[in-house]
Amino acid sequence: MSNEPLVISSVEGPIAILTLNRPQALNALSPALIDNLIRHLEMYDADDLIRAIIITGAGRAFAAGADIKAMANATPIEMLTSGMIARWARIAAIRKPVIAAVNGYALGGGCELAMMCDIILASETAQFGQPEINIGIIPGAGGTQRLTRALGPYRAMEMVLTGATISAHEAAAHGLVNRVCPPETLLDEARRVAQTIAAKSPLAVQLAKEAVRAAAETTVREGLAIELRNFYLLFASEDQKEGMRAFIEKRAPNFSGR
Ligand code: CAA
Repeated sequence: MSNEPLVISSVEGPIAILTLNRPQALNALSPALIDNLIRHLEMYDADDLIRAIIITGAGRAFAAGADIKAMANATPIEMLTSGMIARWARIAAIRKPVIAAVNGYALGGGCELAMMCDIILASETAQFGQPEINIGIIPGAGGTQRLTRALGPYRAMEMVLTGATISAHEAAAHGLVNRVCPPETLLDEARRVAQTIAAKSPLAVQLAKEAVRAAAETTVREGLAIELRNFYLLFASEDQKEGMRAFIEKRAPNFSGR
């Protein structure tokens, strides 16, 4: 077993970059790798100096799925009690913006991980798919739900039932991906988007993320209530006063995060 960290973490000013690092296994998401990823995400979520997080993969994959070798002999009770897949929900629960920089294969759990992020940028070499059907299972970390919301029921159904992958350009054309970049500029584009978000009020960013997420996860009525509550709440922040004052005084705002 290699001594390399399963997740390489680096901080560039207000941005944390997490690189999934099992390239020899196409970054298959073993329980240890997922635990490591969750630990880093939750640490940066709690760190006031970090305003946006990027997840990418080392080598030719973003992630080729949950680790099939770690699950092959599992019983349903072991899958349930270990929380092996259920704990991925903690990734989707991160409050700060998370950008997926998808550099290669995003298959199965890898595609599901990308869809737990808030913005998906893809390299021209990326491929997306839910190939679980090929190994006698179905997606278990949100694929049937998030892919259907991203692509619509017919395209999602075809992908989930046939296991076929789609290219980065197809994914972008159908709304699964924000945009496609040449491989060599993918991370810089992710940094650029992260920097843009990092310059905003972090309170407004957090409450905006919560409200947009609600559109996919609740009814319109509930989502509208969450949006209005968060809108009102921001009027309690110094950043709202500063942002509006700066606009009126024709200068750049200086957000404090309070
Ligand atoms: N789990 C464990 N190991 C994996 C893996 C995975 N999901 N994907 C790739 N690997 C390993 C391979 O076993 C291989 O290891 P060895 O060198 O020790 O044999 C190594 O990564 C390189 O893979 P390949 O030799 O297969 O590379 P390739 O270029 O020929 O093929 C691929 C690439 C098409 C992505 C192929 O690796 C593949 O089909 N991988 C599995 C994809 C998949 O089925 N993902 C879904 C997993 S289940 C899931 O994710 C459930 C869920 O919803 C949470």
